[in-house]
Amino acid sequence: MHGIAVLDAGGQYCHLLARRVREVGVQSHVLPIDTSADALAGISGIIISGGPRSVTEQGSPRIHSSILSMGVPILGICYGHQLLAATMPGGVVKPSYSREYGLAKLTLRSAAELFEGVPETSDVWVSHGDSVEKLPDGFEVLASTDDCAVAAMVHRVKRIYGVQFHPEVTHTQFGQRILENFVRRVCRCESNWKPSSAETIEAIETDIRARVGPTKNVLFFVSGGVDSSVAYKLCADALGQDRVHGVYVDTGFMRKNESAEVMAAYEKAGFKNVRLRDASADFLAAVGTETNPESKRKRIGAAFLAVESDVLEHLPRGEWLLGQGTIYPDTIESGGTRESALIKTHHNRVPELLVRIEAGEIVEPLVQFYKDEVREIGRALGLPSRLIEKQPFPGPGLAVRFLCTDEPAAWSENSKLSQVASGFNLKARVLPVRGVGVQGDERTYAHTALLTGEYDERRIAEVSPTITNSLRDVNRVVYWAGAKGSIDEFHVEPTTTSREGLDVLREADARVRDILAEYDTQKRIWQCPVVMLPLKRQGESTIAIRPVESHDGMTAQYSRLPWPIIERITSAVLQVPGVGALLYDVTNKPPATIEWE
Ligand code: XMP
Repeated sequence: MHGIAVLDAGGQYCHLLARRVREVGVQSHVLPIDTSADALAGISGIIISGGPRSVTEQGSPRIHSSILSMGVPILGICYGHQLLAATMPGGVVKPSYSREYGLAKLTLRSAAELFEGVPETSDVWVSHGDSVEKLPDGFEVLASTDDCAVAAMVHRVKRIYGVQFHPEVTHTQFGQRILENFVRRVCRCESNWKPSSAETIEAIETDIRARVGPTKNVLFFVSGGVDSSVAYKLCADALGQDRVHGVYVDTGFMRKNESAEVMAAYEKAGFKNVRLRDASADFLAAVGTETNPESKRKRIGAAFLAVESDVLEHLPRGEWLLGQGTIYPDTIESGGTRESALIKTHHNRVPELLVRIEAGEIVEPLVQFYKDEVREIGRALGLPSRLIEKQPFPGPGLAVRFLCTDEPAAWSENSKLSQVASGFNLKARVLPVRGVGVQGDERTYAHTALLTGEYDERRIAEVSPTITNSLRDVNRVVYWAGAKGSIDEFHVEPTTTSREGLDVLREADARVRDILAEYDTQKRIWQCPVVMLPLKRQGESTIAIRPVESHDGMTAQYSRLPWPIIERITSAVLQVPGVGALLYDVTNKPPATIEWE
């Protein structure tokens, strides 16, 4: 194994560390915290990540002591820093008097390669309750903050470093410089690793050939997204087209022309054996008259499993392996690395599939790569940009953008809401429709506040968080951009998912997409869900647009659109038969999720 090993102490930043190392052009591997020296043979350096536990707790993650005598440089970060102090002779770690959290001022005490080019004082990001109270034997202090005497330490002979702060987060002013110093100066790694280089791609393909063997074949469920497309292409290149097949499931919850465009892009990419399976009737029947968002999602999940099971049942066991576009972070999200908490269960867990996974009949060529690296590989393989640059689109598709309700609901005024809005020269009322939001790790299901009045980009950006911060039962704020009638003529009416309703949503979505594609030439908008609400006038529904800017979907800012664009979108969408009003969602995430359901 070459490059840098990142030992996972359970920190959410473990993958971020590995990515930062790769940004320097050096290969990195996320491995269990207790990996032994034998398993790390060939590595140039080791980083021990942060983690949520305390080293003073029994049963908290430990390193394998053999790594301390390998002679390769080590950098411990936060928990990793404390773990080094607690493991090496003479070191003592204790709970601090005050928990240090957020930005702190780092002051350098002594020169070291790790801090080359870092000024004497700089901002660092910290989050810890324990501190190194006494240095291990042979160590010296390199830097301190006001609340932490041993913010950085080194054993100069052994080249073992520890830092209490997090260099991998962007809030640490010289974080990337510090990591680069560790990788290049301390570990002496050369910056020559590139995920899309001919050598890396050849290595992936060799691995696929070894795993699949000379006679077996591979089946992929492809979605039109970048991960499954690139994984499919790698397998097809490695094994030959005839041995790789794909099934693309049309759920009926796709956007306008989506399935046709995806199939055309596959053809353009030269994918010979991808078949479309039209399961739209099954999916529509599965959702039925369900109106609760979570139950709708579960029913759609079950419908996917049924289709997949059906396809797999007809494949002869032993001759077919299953290909998946799983990427590196997916392994942490499904609890795949040992110390990480289970964030969400992977959706691809049909019983038929589990049997194959357990038998090792699975091929995941991208499991070592991150999303941006997968895109790079896709580009190097010559895949069309339709497959590589695609905006994220949720698996359950338009079904979670088609809000349903069992009962009529009436408008309501809320004096506190009106008061907050009037402070910004706007009017507001409670929209009797609920949507999903997120607070901390908790999901919320709460009402939306509807703003009316003159559009002022700045005022709206200010009033939105003021409203969600002051009203507990509101997690989303929208602006009434335009309608075919007066607001009081609109009422919430019982609505369930229907093909006709989906067609209206599809058309509105297509028009919004066309206008935004023309406007957003810089591609600042990360994603723009177009959502249909059961707020109706003369049988016509309300459409909401939700343009957001984001890096990873975990947090997002709503995109501040200029009025002429909102006007254009409103007029285009109101021309769609079946649409009566247009709302512009002006909420960040948190407090509202990107999708409404
Ligand atoms: P939320 O709504 O949680 O969405 O803020 C964050 C990102 O995840 C996408 N998303 C999904 N993607 N299956 C997916 O493949 C899903 O069930 C799903 N739900 C949300 C969403 O579009 C956004 O990019």
